[in-house]
Amino acid sequence: MKKIKCLITAGPTREHFDPVRYISNPSSGKMGWFIAQASKEFGWDTTLVLGPSALPNIDGVNVERVVSAEDMLSVCRKHFDDCHILIMSAAVSDVRPKMFINHKAKKNEIDLNPQLERTPDILLTLSKEKGNKVLIGFAAETQNVLEYAKGKLEQKNLDAIVANNVGQASTGFASDDNKIDVILRTGEVIDFPQASKKELANSLIKFLSDRFFK
Ligand code: C5P
Repeated sequence: MKKIKCLITAGPTREHFDPVRYISNPSSGKMGWFIAQASKEFGWDTTLVLGPSALPNIDGVNVERVVSAEDMLSVCRKHFDDCHILIMSAAVSDVRPKMFINHKAKKNEIDLNPQLERTPDILLTLSKEKGNKVLIGFAAETQNVLEYAKGKLEQKNLDAIVANNVGQASTGFASDDNKIDVILRTGEVIDFPQASKKELANSLIKFLSDRFFK
């Protein structure tokens, strides 16, 4: 039996406008970190591309630490060709400042109306070279969760998308629990009841293995 190679992203990205200031979001990286641990324990060859996070490395997992969306894209590209499944759970910042000042800006140097630009959409970029790979996205929303998630599944040419409502403290960005629904291309929605992120990660990997690699 071939050994499945799994590429996972987790955590936020940081988009700096000087060495000490940035745009980011409150993602802790926990969900993707537990998915990487579950993937390894399931016997998959696992690479975790982790944005800035206090979480430690995981024995037996190739952990690559990155800062910005641009870094995350380039490290993902390095591993993408070789993987069977990409699970993109990172909360990539959608925008970044256009300008970067390469020293700590003095207060009066800071532009109070900074120009922003979009970061690269990593999943959309990689989905153009999908081939036979299984692509799994995440949709963190605070409203119309299932509807928005279905839109992204189509737009990014995914095999499945994991929808979660980050508008509730108990299942939000930095919490220990989560509640997810997995939406497949067939339109099927699989409800995973609220549980710890560790338990959900194990259930998700088992589900993906049964669904895509049996
Ligand atoms: O479009 P939206 O950001 O909501 O889509 C969520 C999915 O797209 C997630 O899997 C996320 O990791 C991925 N994404 C990405 N690059 C971005 C923004 C989101 O790969 N710049």
